[in-house]
Amino acid sequence: MVSSGDPAERPSRPSRPAPVVRPEVWETYGPADLSAVPVFAGGFINFGYWKAVDLEGPLSQGDRIRSEQDLYRHVLDAAAPGGGRAVEVGCGLGLGCALALEEYGPAAVTGVDIHPQQLQRAREANSPLLAAEPHRLRFVLGAAEDLPLGDAEFDCLYSVEAAQHFPDLSAFAREAARVLRPGGRVAVTSFFSVGGVPEPGQRLAGLLDSFASGLDIARPVSRLADALAEAGFADVRVASIGPQVWPGWDRWLARLWEPGTWPRNFLAAWEQRILDYYLVTATRP
Ligand SMILES: C[S@@+](CC[C@H](N)C(=O)[O-])C[C@H]1O[C@@H](n2cnc3c(N)ncnc32)[C@H](O)[C@@H]1O
Repeated sequence: MVSSGDPAERPSRPSRPAPVVRPEVWETYGPADLSAVPVFAGGFINFGYWKAVDLEGPLSQGDRIRSEQDLYRHVLDAAAPGGGRAVEVGCGLGLGCALALEEYGPAAVTGVDIHPQQLQRAREANSPLLAAEPHRLRFVLGAAEDLPLGDAEFDCLYSVEAAQHFPDLSAFAREAARVLRPGGRVAVTSFFSVGGVPEPGQRLAGLLDSFASGLDIARPVSRLADALAEAGFADVRVASIGPQVWPGWDRWLARLWEPGTWPRNFLAAWEQRILDYYLVTATRP
């Protein structure tokens, strides 16, 4: 069953050494602080879900933040936290945890991130909420592949644009199964290579610096779906949300990046059917 009470008193696994952070992840989310780069906005770090934004008109900072919030809303609609306990894996600055608390009414939200500097930023960005709701929000250092959380502690687990960095999707899926109660939901959104594409790693590395550097890892989405099924999840579903992500992301990028510069190749990779953006959901029996 789901545990209750003070987050600090909830069962968690014995203390363990700090997770090992890959150098590309360390640099991007530490010294380089991607959350402060102008193409990201409002403290979120995702490409956005642009369905509600008019892409024909000029885009504002408000549109950009709305897109990033709407990606969270799309995932949280699928994760359906209800009044239960939710955990976000790869929470970044934790603004998606705050959005979940404010709009979805869960009993509590735990944000997990592998990078200690991200967690520090998350605690600063959410300090009023942490002070006002100390029993409903916490941030925990940990890796997706080895979550420092108790068995069956959560009703839902969600993740937004972080799984492209997880080195071991099978270990992540096993951990998701472990920390969810029976009937718990998992909802993960991120970008993956399109199934059946030969040598996606090589082709994506040729187009996109983030794959060439090893920051993003090229794998078909079936790798995550299969890992969830092997970990015991039922009703594993994969849906492309590319049409709601890539054209809007590229429209926004065009404000800062010329055609032909590498970030504009995300749209090219989607149009060439090498890369897509997906929502993957499943239920723990
Ligand atoms: C692109 S950011 C997304 C942040 C946030 N979800 C958002 O949408 O604003 C990816 C986050 O995943 C974290 N991360 C990368 N690898 C991880 C891992 N193996 N386990 C947990 N977090 C990880 C990074 O530190 C970073 O904060």
